Amino acid sequence: MSETAIQAAPPVEIPAHVPPELVHDVSRYLAPNTRVDPFSQTETIYEDLPPIFFTASQRSVLNDGLWVVTRYEDIREVYQNDALYSTKDVANFQAVVGETFRMIPLAVDPPEHGKYRILLNPWFSPKAINALEDSIRATINGLIDGFADKGEADAAYDFGRLYPVQVFMNLMGFPPERLEEFLSWEYAILHSGYNIERIKWGIGSALAYLRSFIAEMKASPADNLTSHIVHGQVEGRPLTEDEIIGTVAFLWLGGLDTVAATTSLMFRRLALEPELQRTLRETPALHADAIEEFLRVQPLVNSTRQVKQDHEIRGVQIKAGDRIMCFNSAGNFDPAEFENPRQVRFDRPSNRHFTLAGGPHRCLGSHLARRELRIALSEMLRRLPPFELKAGADRTVHPGLIAAPRLPITWQV
Ligand code: HEM
Repeated sequence: MSETAIQAAPPVEIPAHVPPELVHDVSRYLAPNTRVDPFSQTETIYEDLPPIFFTASQRSVLNDGLWVVTRYEDIREVYQNDALYSTKDVANFQAVVGETFRMIPLAVDPPEHGKYRILLNPWFSPKAINALEDSIRATINGLIDGFADKGEADAAYDFGRLYPVQVFMNLMGFPPERLEEFLSWEYAILHSGYNIERIKWGIGSALAYLRSFIAEMKASPADNLTSHIVHGQVEGRPLTEDEIIGTVAFLWLGGLDTVAATTSLMFRRLALEPELQRTLRETPALHADAIEEFLRVQPLVNSTRQVKQDHEIRGVQIKAGDRIMCFNSAGNFDPAEFENPRQVRFDRPSNRHFTLAGGPHRCLGSHLARRELRIALSEMLRRLPPFELKAGADRTVHPGLIAAPRLPITWQV
């Protein structure tokens, strides 16, 4: 996987209806840093900035400038109110190569959205995930076997980067030998900033491969999720070609990177805070709640929506067609919802964070993600003695999907 220089975006024109005093730069809250808590950069955002503001600094190939909401209540409203906020064009990477299919289910609004969730839900239900448990555990232990007796490992590159992709490829039926290629395409799509050529290469290569695999499943049905989609039905009819590629492509995009990034941030935190590690080693019964808390304090994705109608938020005029971002990097730490929000606590009585979004588009893979993370945590703690960050290792971390691409840890053998 090669790192690519993040290309600077061209400047954004601020729309006339945006008051100049509401234009603020959000990028400093998302800057790479070396802190124990990489998201602590948002600690003063409620004092620094108004609860809703406009930013031009989040420009990517998918967004010009956009509104940002930072408070828990406002974020929840944006996720839940599908009459006012649409997911049209969210994650619309395929448009970069001139494709017109929709990313399914994410880019489809309710009520139409529901028919695709009905098609996919059985593969992601707690019962379906229970059936995967043994194979997830075997995948994870297979990787740990490779380094357990060595006294050191790269917990991101040699572990977190690999096991979620292996689990996902198995679920979808993709051949395991495609792993490195998948990772490089996906990295080019999600981590190239404004480098359109790299994004085009990544999405173009992925779509060409996914279409060939879909054709294979059409000719020879198999017991995997891709084949289920290819031969599936919505509202009593087979899916169209566009619906099939849109669904497979979005699962491919959503399923590859998120668990890997969460894993690297979780083990980074444990390596830097021995007390947290000790608690989890002493009380494995806390592991499920610990995963929920790690998810809360590591909001990797700040979802965007398109505004459907003119309206006001906290007295600010928002127009139809504007884009708005749910700044989970702040909302997951709103003291109005979470007591001592910056503290990692494994005994929170209620932990309704936004890391897996909310409302109708709440993450379809949430049960799978939680299970993978819990098994990864439990098996690493069971098989390795207390570990720490390798002396002299680079502590740089990105509070987003890039997370910690390298995480060298050491332990006594
Ligand atoms: C820790 C890991 C994960 C995180 C943090 C995460 C985060 C998210 C977020 C924030 C959304 C909503 C996006 C939006 O509203 O704009 C979402 C939706 C989605 N995620 Fe995940 N995800 C994770 C794991 C997975 C996995 C493993 C899969 C599949 C294998 C998956 C599949 C999906 C799908 C299909 C949707 C769209 C749901 C819909 O539109 O109804 N996710 N995820």
